[in-house]
Amino acid sequence: MSEPFAFTLPPAAALLAWYARQKRELPWRGETDPYRIWLSEVMLQQTTVASVGPRYARFLARFPDVGALARAPWPEVAEEWAGLGYYARARNLHAAAQAVAARGGFPRDAEGLRELPGIGAYTSAAVAAIAFGQPVLPVDGNVERVMARLAAIDTPLPAARPLLARLAGGFMADAAARAAPGDFAQALFDLGATICTPRNPACALCPWMAECRARKQGIQAELPVKAPKRARLVLHGIHFLLRDARGAIGVRLRPAEGLFGGMWELPGTPWREAPWSVADALPHAPAPGVNWREAEGVASHGLTHRELSLGLLVGRVAELPPGLSPLGAEAGLATVMRKLLALSGAGES
Ligand code: ADE
Repeated sequence: MSEPFAFTLPPAAALLAWYARQKRELPWRGETDPYRIWLSEVMLQQTTVASVGPRYARFLARFPDVGALARAPWPEVAEEWAGLGYYARARNLHAAAQAVAARGGFPRDAEGLRELPGIGAYTSAAVAAIAFGQPVLPVDGNVERVMARLAAIDTPLPAARPLLARLAGGFMADAAARAAPGDFAQALFDLGATICTPRNPACALCPWMAECRARKQGIQAELPVKAPKRARLVLHGIHFLLRDARGAIGVRLRPAEGLFGGMWELPGTPWREAPWSVADALPHAPAPGVNWREAEGVASHGLTHRELSLGLLVGRVAELPPGLSPLGAEAGLATVMRKLLALSGAGES
């Protein structure tokens, strides 16, 4: 056990009153369908609120309920997810929809939700609180920042995470938060997104200004402290843009597991730390005897822990070799592959 930390939480009612007046109008606000709440939370883990809006509506138009998503073939889900990144999330979303359909509905509490593929501590708590009114608090980066400031915690992230989560969980002992856990969680998200922002927090507008320790000490803008980031590993590869006589571009499916699993890609070398020369890459070409032209520049793409730096060779054949399919206009092509197409001037629409 860690030592007790003496901090009295401010009243949940003050935040809820602020939320009632100031909440953002977002497409999933007011929804209680767990499928819709879950989808919004998964999308919001990787994309800003502003860009999720249209993608959320489009996804729901195509897969209106959990059964529709469960029945959809994976390539359709991949296609609809293209550009949203973190494809493992889309695979998990699809797998979890199938598990929910098989059991006849969503589990109604955080523990049950957590057993679904890809649903971790945050998402299970968010769906339990927002869709089912369970008294749990999902802790995201907004909640961590608000807690670090309220209690003036200067332990760097990520080490401070367990303490911040424990402090935040204390709100569930406040009757006002317990009575409306979904509103309370979303009130904390909105406070973090609009007032208790990473830079230049607007303390004068905060319903908890008087109780905030960081504010009293004048250190709110310095919190939370973050441990220095390690440089991301750069992975190099060379890909091949091969067109047939009609101009169709040859693509292949990536293996289901691993980075961009189940998405279409231009054929290429494996990705490795050492840069590739063209001569090294040629044995990985999808067809022999092609006169390859080197496109200028590289496509760079940042992932959570790695950065991709991919070069491109462009060539023509009469007919695509077996193992390559013509790229369809709607295919689920990973964003980094669209960047590669752009290098060649092939662009995309
Ligand atoms: N970020 C993550 N979930 C959210 C929600 N439900 N509302 C606003 N911002 C969020």
